[in-house]
Amino acid sequence: PFEKHVDSILSLMTLEEKLGQLNLPSSGDITTGQAQSSDIAKKIEEGKVGGLFNIKTAQKIRDVQKIAVEKSRLKIPLLFGMDVIHGYETTFPIPLGLSASWDMELIEKTARVAAIEASADGINWTFSPMVDISRDPRWGRVSEGSGEDPFLGSEIAKAMVSGYQGNDLTLQNTILSCVKHFALYGAPEAGRDYNTVDMSKIRMYNEYLPPYKAAINAGVASVMASFNEIDGIPATGNKWLLTDLLRDDWGFNGFVVTDYTGINEMVDHGMGDLQQVSALALKAGVDMDMVGEGLLTTLKASLDEGKITIDQIDTAVKRILTAKYQLGLFDDPYKYCNPERAKTEVFTQEHRTFARKVSAESMVLLKNENNLLPLKKSGTIALIGPLANSAVNMAGTWSVATKQEKSNPLLEGLKTVVGDKATVLYAKGSNVDYDLAFENRITMFGKSIPRDGRTDKQLLDEALTIAAKSDVIVAALGETAELSGESSSVTNLQIPQVQKDLLNALLKTGKPVVLVLFTGRPLAIVEENENVPAILNVWFPGSEAGLAISDVLFGDVNPSGKLSATFPMNVGQVPIFYNHKNTGRPLGNKEGKFEKFRSNYLDVRNEPLYPFGYGLSYTTFEYSNLKLSSDQMNMNGSLDVSVDVTNSGNYDGKEVVQLYLRDLVGSVTRPVKELKGFQKIEIKKGETKTVTFKLTTEDLKFYNYDLNFVAEPGTFEVFVGTDSNATLKSNFQLTP
Ligand code: IFM
Repeated sequence: PFEKHVDSILSLMTLEEKLGQLNLPSSGDITTGQAQSSDIAKKIEEGKVGGLFNIKTAQKIRDVQKIAVEKSRLKIPLLFGMDVIHGYETTFPIPLGLSASWDMELIEKTARVAAIEASADGINWTFSPMVDISRDPRWGRVSEGSGEDPFLGSEIAKAMVSGYQGNDLTLQNTILSCVKHFALYGAPEAGRDYNTVDMSKIRMYNEYLPPYKAAINAGVASVMASFNEIDGIPATGNKWLLTDLLRDDWGFNGFVVTDYTGINEMVDHGMGDLQQVSALALKAGVDMDMVGEGLLTTLKASLDEGKITIDQIDTAVKRILTAKYQLGLFDDPYKYCNPERAKTEVFTQEHRTFARKVSAESMVLLKNENNLLPLKKSGTIALIGPLANSAVNMAGTWSVATKQEKSNPLLEGLKTVVGDKATVLYAKGSNVDYDLAFENRITMFGKSIPRDGRTDKQLLDEALTIAAKSDVIVAALGETAELSGESSSVTNLQIPQVQKDLLNALLKTGKPVVLVLFTGRPLAIVEENENVPAILNVWFPGSEAGLAISDVLFGDVNPSGKLSATFPMNVGQVPIFYNHKNTGRPLGNKEGKFEKFRSNYLDVRNEPLYPFGYGLSYTTFEYSNLKLSSDQMNMNGSLDVSVDVTNSGNYDGKEVVQLYLRDLVGSVTRPVKELKGFQKIEIKKGETKTVTFKLTTEDLKFYNYDLNFVAEPGTFEVFVGTDSNATLKSNFQLTP
């Protein structure tokens, strides 16, 4: 609809102005929202900037926009981007945590709230959602995605895009969304960030690409190219990826932005000098260059030398201008620049109350021996651990706009929630890690916990003193925020040893211990699972962390989160995921005992510590009466699968009912199980609900050897249950 307008502006533009539209510099200091450097101001005036990121507040953005629309020759407004990843000032759990809620309405609303707050603060474009499938918890950015499953990941991708963009981008409180990192960024070799990715097309199509595609289908306005290579060509310069697949096959018609200096990094990838790689990126389908200015500074030479065409430049410029039209910036460039909005729409009590609810929904109860949880609001509670009173660690990774100092840590939340009904004692208990060099590396962004002046023994003694006075110990342990996230890959998936030592000392007191586990990745907590009676995984819960954790600890909220990524027994099992292939030599025994010449390990069983989809409740759910509306389905048909779920315990609760399929025989090997449906439902104690899923041929389709999306006739097994170990089983035939 904006073609005429776009063409008419384009016809007025000089080459320099065109290249300017493709340029996305960073403004500098994101935390203070400092206005742009004078260098950038000058560039904006000269028409050499298409958008800016890492700047916030309506006033500062208004000032910058004013330069663009008053001082630049063509008065083209700027885009203002930011990493609004899991909330803005009101911060929700890290995305891995959010995904554990399995609640699409809730997740969509978190994106909606984030868009409201960000747009009220001047921002019109978020670099979210991050939908990279990952099966490797060594990779630090596993915290930023939705886990390992393409089906769940796709549902979440859709929900996030629609939360940010709504149905109408011309509104004041909707913003452009950017799906990232296209593609396969979550599968680096050895889990090391930015490392090489190499996978078969069939795996890509079936297992890694679906969430990006779901975001495209949901109308996402932009796509960020990833840092990694695909089939030997970095994504940023990969024409197959950015044009053949994304545009020609998937029909994407928004714009593609690089990741931070993604074009320049192709020099280190070994793809040529800056001029060569910039031309490569443009020809591959990149429209906007984040930070590196390769497009701005080299495309003229490439054009003069006939290496690229003016049409290729025009195409990219048009896409950027179209996005600006979509947002209505040509009608009102100051659309998001009303400082009054920020006063009433950012970090509001309403948003914080919602964040508290979301955080509680994302928590996963991993163990609860003898119903130690929920705790009673009485007696004396010893809260111990380095994560117990650290506001700066509650938001977790990529929370650039969060109000760190206003997040409530667990100590504050506990005290608020118990009021004068119980006594809360607190001790730090230990540092984050024994290893000073390691700690220094993880405090690089200033979010970790300062090393204590006291010795390890003094810290422990203080903890044991309060433990002795208590009825129950709550141990707040795990990762600090910077231990996961970008550039935080690890080879050890255990809780740092100093914290394990603290935990063991607490267990030795004989008092009941609840482990509140902070983490941005699946951890190998085998010993903790063996020795600690209750474990609540809280991820990084966001602004309202302390209150939300306390809501769950005391049973004001019954936990209902389910893992979206498998927790391994040890790092050697990685990558480990539920939807694996059977192999030609699967284990023959259900107990997982070692068998010679079968596909298994000598030193650890194949099963994970906690499977995908796992999570307990304070109540219990029983599954029965699995029924299929027919034992046959034809190619255009559908089938209903129903199951009765009974809340057989003592609390009202929510359950995520999960449906998995297995395609028994295929023209290519098929996974042992694939999630194809889930419903999160509330069931009162004693009540039974019948849950029905509708399956269609679409649910049975996969990419075959020729990468055609097909359903093949044959037998399908259906599993329904509480996690990916679901055993209630039936089957049907897909008939030709
Ligand atoms: O959006 C991010 C991306 O996820 C990682 N590199 C930097 C970008 C902009 O901050």
